Amino acid sequence: MLHLLNHPLASHIVTHLRDKTTKPVTFRTLTYQIGLLLAVEATRDLQTCKVEIETPLENFPGTVLRDTLVLVPILRAAIGLVQPFVDLFPNVSIGYVGLERDHQTAIARNYYCKLPPLEEQRILILDPMLATGGSAVQTIQLVQESGGKNLAVVCVVAAPEGVDAIERLDPNTPIFSAALDRELNSRKYILPGVGDYGDRLYGT
Ligand code: PRP
Ligand code: URA
Repeated sequence: MLHLLNHPLASHIVTHLRDKTTKPVTFRTLTYQIGLLLAVEATRDLQTCKVEIETPLENFPGTVLRDTLVLVPILRAAIGLVQPFVDLFPNVSIGYVGLERDHQTAIARNYYCKLPPLEEQRILILDPMLATGGSAVQTIQLVQESGGKNLAVVCVVAAPEGVDAIERLDPNTPIFSAALDRELNSRKYILPGVGDYGDRLYGT
């Protein structure tokens, strides 16, 4: 269930993220901007409830958000995506999952996990790069073991291999991405991709 951002501004931002001459300070701003667009797209189906309010001129039958959100950013690159979601949805709870890919095998090792209560919550797993999908799949499993059911994955760039990995786990898991790239290289980096997202975000 892949949903791609279909907006010229999204393509503009991702192109600048891909550009190897983009410096970390700009890379962080672009990450914030694409995060805002992803936050809007990934929350289209949030439930609302009716409220009666008064405008300065008359009564108005309004709607406000009913669902609360839980964000689960995968450390460390997804930290760059948290602020745009928090700015649009100030009442979110945030859980953290720490995963790091082994440089030789590209298999992610879990080094941290702290999740808030997840039952009955709408959960958005954030990770800018969906490469092999190993990190996202491990996080989905951690979320499910903690009682989370209603979850989606939000990324900036997805590879077909990562999308397949999530679909093999559960074909109904929504994936929201700004771009779908061609393939992985032999070191499991996305092509054309943006390079190492965490390194580019933090200048490491
Ligand atoms: C990167 C990226 C994702 C992961 C994606 O993290 O931020 O979390 O790789 O790859 P996968 O789909 O093949 O699992 P990395 O392991 O480099 O850690 P970092 O964010 O700490 O740099
Ligand atoms: N992680 C990254 O940061 N970039 C990739 O291309 C793949 C995994």
